[in-house]
Amino acid sequence: MAVSLRNAHTTMGSVKFLTDRVAIVTASTKGIGFAIAKRLGMDGASIVVSSRKQKNVDEAVTALRHEGVECDGVVAHVGIDDDRKKLVDFALDRFGKLDILVSNAAVNPHYGDLMSVSDSHWDKLLNVNVRSAFLLTQEAVPHLEKSGNGNIVFVSSVAGYSPFDGIGAYSIMKTALLGINKSLSQNLARKNIRVNAIAPGVIRTDFSRALTDGPAPLKADTLIPLGRFGEADECAGAVSFLVSDGASYMSGEVIGVNGGMQARI
Ligand SMILES: NC(=O)c1ccc[n+]([C@@H]2O[C@H](COP(=O)([O-])OP(=O)(O)OC[C@H]3O[C@@H](n4cnc5c(N)ncnc54)[C@H](OP(=O)(O)O)[C@@H]3O)[C@@H](O)[C@H]2O)c1
Repeated sequence: MAVSLRNAHTTMGSVKFLTDRVAIVTASTKGIGFAIAKRLGMDGASIVVSSRKQKNVDEAVTALRHEGVECDGVVAHVGIDDDRKKLVDFALDRFGKLDILVSNAAVNPHYGDLMSVSDSHWDKLLNVNVRSAFLLTQEAVPHLEKSGNGNIVFVSSVAGYSPFDGIGAYSIMKTALLGINKSLSQNLARKNIRVNAIAPGVIRTDFSRALTDGPAPLKADTLIPLGRFGEADECAGAVSFLVSDGASYMSGEVIGVNGGMQARI
């Protein structure tokens, strides 16, 4: 289905409503993370880009600067303790403060029956998708509190509400993120840090290629009311809204970005 995404690539009007904010976006060298970094940057924030590979970081920084985004980048594997600290320190060194954390990183090392998940895959899923999201938050919170207007956004998934066949373990991790979102929103409210999440549906990225373009692709026209898979840029507006003053009374919320798929507990 041909759809114009003109507005998904541009700022919300001409007002740069995130000016003077500094944002870390994890796993932001491609896909949804890159789109979020671009959107927050075009809305005025200074962005710290990161992922595991230097080449990807360099390319993303170059591409974002080309779009006029103020940004810098650092290699950070979210599952490595020293890297999470390095990431927060980098933001402080480079931009002097931290206002926004977008916790976007996830892996999916296992496709198949849930009962066939190996313990090493389970540990990897827990470490990268859940443990790191919580521990990076702990690392960032003292600085988000100093901001006075701190914001955290977790990237969960529609699969966190309604598990997908073949990616059951990954789905469990995304459900755990919804729990983290709820608990942290209550815990951090008195520090004036808002905590929210997005739950994308099936978004065309390298990560989802097996679902959208594999040998037995999902059928968008029957699965998704809007009749098509989403694009990474279409996830970014929801994040920009959640961290903006327009959402100043929202915390512990999850915005589905899923083309109308039914997804609620
Ligand atoms: N695509 C979908 O349909 C969909 C739907 C719902 C939710 N999501 C969620 O959206 C998020 C982003 O997914 P995506 O589809 O945008 O994936 P993607 O296009 O494959 O991009 C993945 C990004 O993560 C980085 N990365 C991978 N492992 C990392 C790690 N351990 N530490 C830091 N960075 C890491 C990669 O760069 P390097 O290789 O350089 O590390 C890359 O920048 C994930 O949380 C995913 O679960 C995706």
